[in-house]
Amino acid sequence: MAPAPGGAAAAHPFTAAEKAAVYKAIEQRRDIRSFRPDPLPEELLLRLLQAAHHAPSVGFMQPWNFIVVKSQETKERLRQAADKERRALLLHYEGEQAQKFARLKIEALTEAPITLCVTLDPTRGGLHVLGRNSIPETDLASVSCAIQNLWLAARAEGLAVGWVSFYKKQDIRHILDIPPHIDPVALLSVGYTDEFPEKPLLETANWRKRLDLKELIYAERWGEK
Ligand SMILES: Cc1cc2nc3c(=O)[nH]c(=O)nc-3n(C[C@H](O)[C@H](O)[C@H](O)COP(=O)(O)O)c2cc1C
Repeated sequence: MAPAPGGAAAAHPFTAAEKAAVYKAIEQRRDIRSFRPDPLPEELLLRLLQAAHHAPSVGFMQPWNFIVVKSQETKERLRQAADKERRALLLHYEGEQAQKFARLKIEALTEAPITLCVTLDPTRGGLHVLGRNSIPETDLASVSCAIQNLWLAARAEGLAVGWVSFYKKQDIRHILDIPPHIDPVALLSVGYTDEFPEKPLLETANWRKRLDLKELIYAERWGEK
């Protein structure tokens, strides 16, 4: 039998429905700010964390941990830390942008049934993590891949995720007892929502538009179309 074009991968293709499902999750994933209070079944949360744990990582170092926060009191302390930072950042904006920024909600951190703190341990894997020797920040890229896996799996499960990064890391370390060398990369609100908007909220609020992909693709060298 003649080998399939594209080799082994093409010989085991995803079905059309499976492919469509992958692209659908990517296109319909949204950063969500408003949540229903309904709790998440444990096995569902575990499936999301499994998806995160199957992310690629530099030298297979798997530098992540996931702190699952359900306590309303702790979520409130995290919200206060984020709100303090949001108010501090407001200084950087003027006029209409300041008004829009001031309205950015961080209540998601107390509304959602779960806040997930995704951390990065740069010491995991010892002194010489393959690949990370040259570009140390590949560990952060690896944690970002884990978060994106979780975000897409959540969308496929009909679950909403919101990413909050307005905070001082020291505040989050203090609230969650995180050791000084561990980086709290993200606070994610996870739960059910009433609506997945078609467009990013920041696009609807005229903060920024999605750039034209064609403008971002260069041929052979930087800037060449
Ligand atoms: C690294 C990262 C940090 C983010 N931090 C925040 C944040 O602090 N507050 C916020 O409202 N959204 C945050 N977001 C969500 C983005 O605003 C959102 O992804 C973007 O507007 C595009 O919308 P979409 O995710 O619905 O496509 C963050 C997203 C990423 C990837």
